[in-house]
Amino acid sequence: MCGIVGIIGKQPVAPLLVDSLKRLEYRGYDSAGVATLKEGQLDRRRAEGKLVNLETELTRHPLDGKVGIGHTRWATHGAPTQQNAHPHFCEGVAVVHNGIIENFAEIRDQLTARGAQFTTETDTEVVAQLLASLIRNGKTPREAMQATLGLIKGAYALAVLFDGEEGQIMGARNGPPLAVGHGEGEMFLGSDAIALSPFTDEITYLEDGDWAVIDRNGVEIFDTSGNVVERPRSKASTAYAQVEKGNHRHFMEKEIYEQPEVVSHTLAHYVDFTAGKVRNIAPDLNFSAIDSIKIAACGTAFYAGQIGKYWLERYARLPVEIDVASEFRYREMPLPGNQAALFVSQSGETADTLASLRYCKEHGLKIGAIVNVRESTIAREADVVFPTLAGPEIGVASTKAFTCQLATFAALAIAAGRARGTLIADEEANMVRALSEAPRIASSVLNTIQPQLENLSRELSRYRNVLYLGRGTNYTLAMEGALKLKEISYIHAEGYAAGELKHGPIALIDENMPVIVIAPYDRHYEKTMSNMQEVAARGGRIIFVTDENGAAAATLDTMATITLPNVDELMMPLIFTLPIQLIAYHTAVFMGTDVDQPRNLAKSVTVE
Ligand code: F6R
Repeated sequence: MCGIVGIIGKQPVAPLLVDSLKRLEYRGYDSAGVATLKEGQLDRRRAEGKLVNLETELTRHPLDGKVGIGHTRWATHGAPTQQNAHPHFCEGVAVVHNGIIENFAEIRDQLTARGAQFTTETDTEVVAQLLASLIRNGKTPREAMQATLGLIKGAYALAVLFDGEEGQIMGARNGPPLAVGHGEGEMFLGSDAIALSPFTDEITYLEDGDWAVIDRNGVEIFDTSGNVVERPRSKASTAYAQVEKGNHRHFMEKEIYEQPEVVSHTLAHYVDFTAGKVRNIAPDLNFSAIDSIKIAACGTAFYAGQIGKYWLERYARLPVEIDVASEFRYREMPLPGNQAALFVSQSGETADTLASLRYCKEHGLKIGAIVNVRESTIAREADVVFPTLAGPEIGVASTKAFTCQLATFAALAIAAGRARGTLIADEEANMVRALSEAPRIASSVLNTIQPQLENLSRELSRYRNVLYLGRGTNYTLAMEGALKLKEISYIHAEGYAAGELKHGPIALIDENMPVIVIAPYDRHYEKTMSNMQEVAARGGRIIFVTDENGAAAATLDTMATITLPNVDELMMPLIFTLPIQLIAYHTAVFMGTDVDQPRNLAKSVTVE
């Protein structure tokens, strides 16, 4: 979850490291630090809190040197203090780390028994201490690196500097990603291609168990036994260079407004609008032959999967079992053949989702992955990749990745329905026509609903609790809406299936509990109306998110009614997500929270 970077440059690297860390800050922002080597000597600057504090520290106390490493932290072991900030130093070794060293306590005890003195509460410091002790005992830096990697267990991406080894950085990967960037007389290391995009788009990804030595001339990559290995070099997407907010106040706002465009790109990838058909996108998943499909994901990606389940079951009559990946990976479920598995992840690096994928792979299932980062580990380990074309998503709260995941699921459900004979050509053509209209309708909704939602959000920001209700795919949107609101505004929110109201949550209803009901005029409308009556009868304040037909048929007073255009049922989640996202966004803005980097969160969750 932390971000790491390393640069062997032609000019002083501290400002470049900070520039690169800015692009990685989405991975964690509890503290930041950089270390450089100058004339064989290590030095560092570190600061608690966001990167801006490190910048201030560097202005007060500049750091010279053309070789350096940097880190932005999402704290796992040890409080987010300056003392615990990376890089960690020990006798001429500097280390930055993303991940968790699982056997750190054991190693620390052994080293302490031999006289080592630890100065931080982090798991990472054992890496610096181990390297230093091995060098003290006569090993070269390369030997020390290989031996240390043999001793530590867990998940790590590491970048290491050694005193006296000017012009060289070592890196290692086991779990979290690590990319090597190739330049002309310069070389780079980084957690992802976004971090390296200001410097190079020529990237080599290390594989699990790899470690590398980079210098000005290039990179040597080794496997765990120390054998030299070759890894392919590829061109990173140019989209990574474009991570600017433009005229928007926050990345999240920009990403919400980008949705018509990126959903349209994603749909165009899967759908042949002229022919009125979904392309032949998933022959390898063998939809016609499988009996069922498993889906696992986390957070918002899980909610996309849940809507995918509703669609695959309804339109393709394909039974789907879905679970959050942190449960899926440990349930020890039987996995008989004749199934496929789908994993959904914006980053493609989420540790629990990756572990679930590997579990299914070990059991011989065909693996599909819906991912936004094509070079990610999940994408590389899947048999079939379904890319979402959302472009880099920087705001920690997922928005455009979610709608692009939905667009991909819609196409998959149609492809599956066609393969299984549950959709005839006319039905497919109608569904494709509906999808083709989604970007235009999304754009017109975004252009019209903002003023109303701003007013509503000002009011919502006065409450401490919010309940969201819906049925069918809108039940999932209720949970997604609650997740979005709590993660960026810190207002407590819950999403419930409207039919579950009577089974408990109705006890919470009073005038201090706004209830956001998502109910277009679909086959669930009447039932949800009854639930709204139950809320109104108990003094609950209703915010009604519906469509034109739903608003016309409503018989209740509400705190606000948000009326969206009438749309085809397949398209509803793509459109009804928009006010849900904007309510969370504007409420957070009124609360004055850090919208793009909410407290305690990180964009890429590479630890379980
Ligand atoms: C919520 C959010 C998270 C992510 C989750 C999975 O707004 O962004 O819940 O959806 O951490 O991340 P990915 O999709 O990268 O696997």
